[in-house]
Amino acid sequence: MEDGRLKLRNLIDIEDLSLEEWQELYALAREIIANPKNYAQALQGDVMASLFYEPSTRTNFSFQTAMLRLGGSVFGFADPNSSSTSKGETLKDTVKMVSSYADVIVMRSPKEGAAKAASLYSEVPVINAGDGGHMHPTQTLTDLTTIAMLRGGIENLNVGLCGDLKNGRTVHSLIKALAKFPGIRFYLIAPRDLAIPGYMVEYMKMRGTPFVEVTNLEATMPQLDVLYMTRIQRERFTDPLEYDRLKGVYVLTRSKLRTAKKDMLIMHPLPRVDEIAQDVDDDPRAVYFDQARYGMFARMALLMKMVEQGRKRPEPQIIGREPRCRNKNCITRTELYLPPLLKAEGTCCAFCDKEL
Ligand code: CP
Repeated sequence: MEDGRLKLRNLIDIEDLSLEEWQELYALAREIIANPKNYAQALQGDVMASLFYEPSTRTNFSFQTAMLRLGGSVFGFADPNSSSTSKGETLKDTVKMVSSYADVIVMRSPKEGAAKAASLYSEVPVINAGDGGHMHPTQTLTDLTTIAMLRGGIENLNVGLCGDLKNGRTVHSLIKALAKFPGIRFYLIAPRDLAIPGYMVEYMKMRGTPFVEVTNLEATMPQLDVLYMTRIQRERFTDPLEYDRLKGVYVLTRSKLRTAKKDMLIMHPLPRVDEIAQDVDDDPRAVYFDQARYGMFARMALLMKMVEQGRKRPEPQIIGREPRCRNKNCITRTELYLPPLLKAEGTCCAFCDKEL
């Protein structure tokens, strides 16, 4: 990092962001929170493209308001059927077009690896606003900002992650980020059928991050400094009966908080369905609505840093061929021209992280 500029050109996976870069972003977010009016023209004349191929309230609106509060402009879609995607246009062609109109692209997709695929063809920085059940790095910036603002730092914390740890992309990104901080221990609270994926277990083992996998929320509660609740991700289930069997498996109620620490943070990326009862909202430990607001400031800081990267012609890419990633939801299964990129010494797909 030189002169406060991030080395990172795109934000696809939170792992790509160094601790030093996080500190730079957080320092800027804090300044914006303290003096928002000082930044009202920071991105005047710049344009953000917002490509949402999947529903969103917080991420879409907080990015839009972040750009508007910085004096920039926004265009895009929240329904891909209103774009030429519905006529069969490839992601590559859409991105090549959009990147010639915009200064930064924010993209959400139900396909894992979609933002990485977009970044290969974009002339401007691409920000992953969620790709299938894979990653959600800007939710993690939101979460880190919330913890740092409300606890004064991120270290020596017992963090409970509860719910759908298999499909919850916010959890996968958050683990990767928190594992870089000292003294973090994870309590992974999930039924066996929604346990954290193998590649995330390998990640924690590889980094030497302490973690335990448990099923009982109440028994774990007294240990926790942060409880991060998540929704059972109905849209990721192929069998509706399986969803019906697992929904409602964890419901946090006020009475279950009796054994929790007095300063525990109750977080949730939202939206919630029924995993946090309404009677928890007024508990001073419940910070999930504050968390969503911190997300807007974190995204303001990120947009400023990303726009700073400027325009650059993408490298030529080879045209894809067999074998393809086995993950049916990987972007390489539908955008067949994508190069067959690998990571982890050729053992994983570089788009979706799944083992080959
Ligand atoms: N937390 C989050 O990603 O919410 P949305 O799906 O509403 O954007």
